[in-house]
Amino acid sequence: MTDALLINARLATLDGPGYGLIERGALAITDGRITWIGASADLPADHAALPRHDLGERLITPAPIDCHTHLIHGGDRAREFELRLQGASYAEIARAGGGILSTVAATRAADEDTLVAAALPWLDALLAEGVATVEVKSGYGLDPETELRMLRAARRLESLRQIRIVTTFLGAHACPPENDPDTYVDSICIPTLHTAHAEGLVDAVDGFCEGIAFTPAQIARVFDAARALDLPVKLHAEQLSHTGGTALAARYNALSADHVEYATEDDARAMAAAGTVAVLLPGAFYTLHETQAPPIAAFRAQGVRMALATDCNPGSSPLSSILLTMNMGCTLFRLTPEEALRGITTHAAAALGLTDRGRLAPGLRADLAVWNVENPAELAWRIGFNPLHQRWFNGAPC
Ligand code: NIG
Ligand code: FE
Repeated sequence: MTDALLINARLATLDGPGYGLIERGALAITDGRITWIGASADLPADHAALPRHDLGERLITPAPIDCHTHLIHGGDRAREFELRLQGASYAEIARAGGGILSTVAATRAADEDTLVAAALPWLDALLAEGVATVEVKSGYGLDPETELRMLRAARRLESLRQIRIVTTFLGAHACPPENDPDTYVDSICIPTLHTAHAEGLVDAVDGFCEGIAFTPAQIARVFDAARALDLPVKLHAEQLSHTGGTALAARYNALSADHVEYATEDDARAMAAAGTVAVLLPGAFYTLHETQAPPIAAFRAQGVRMALATDCNPGSSPLSSILLTMNMGCTLFRLTPEEALRGITTHAAAALGLTDRGRLAPGLRADLAVWNVENPAELAWRIGFNPLHQRWFNGAPC
């Protein structure tokens, strides 16, 4: 690990109100951590001797964090895309055995090497935009063997790329064809969670609370199991309809409730009281031609922190661009570019329960993105353009 002094940069620290901009800034790194940050003119003498990197007035932000993905999966869903364009809805395709269950069949048929190899191009697209932390869910196995294989494949990505992977157990994603939902939750999903946890494969526990997936009562049993293991929870909630998932998530002090298009003002109040982050997934909203936007005004009014993520998956959101996600968050949900940047950094870290990243401040990890832009709003503004100059992971350029 090299120590470094980054000079001649504009810094969007996101530490404090607004972008937390520092003009003509400098940032010192020791052992992978930020040790000093401020205006170059104020640089203390003991940092001045560190190896210097002149950034030519470029903008530095915290490295983006993609806090909701289904990166590990078998097969593709291009055929389903065609069907939806002919008028079939996401729920109709799911009920006919397609959708998530078609990816389950393809994932069960893939060995660990195949799953890892298939995930790398999606992951590399995220890395090319500066992403340094990615959450990856299971949930396309729905049997013990495949759920564990997915989580092992996710963990392996850390040995192949300079990236931090956070794993989430999503056994309660859909009911497999061979079971009924109650039997599946009690006899397969929860025991598999125990095994995966014992292997050290689980950082958090998620579920899909929806008419085509699981009821709040079934999800509550999964959350009770997570609580007994001291694991944080999060939930796919109110994506296609209002089923009470968000209130349930708040009752369990969930890290996040995700999608939340059909959440209400009461839900926003409950989330605010519980400190639950709203993870907005505009890629799924866009792909599914959804027309009901999440209650952004209520989230703002209640002070609910809003994160943005790709939801990268082969069905509802085949999206592997965090920059396009920012643009969609602004254009489709009317977030400000500042909210969008916070959404993929500070609030994305909060959605994963991580306090050591997502801002630029002394003591935090030196995971940075250096951009060829002048103003932070440019990151959300352009479509299909990647201005990344350099990604720093754990204190080193890569
Ligand atoms: O976040 N909503 C449920 N789960 C995923 C979709 C997964 C799929 O369609 O394969 C989501 O949108
Ligand atoms: Fe998802």
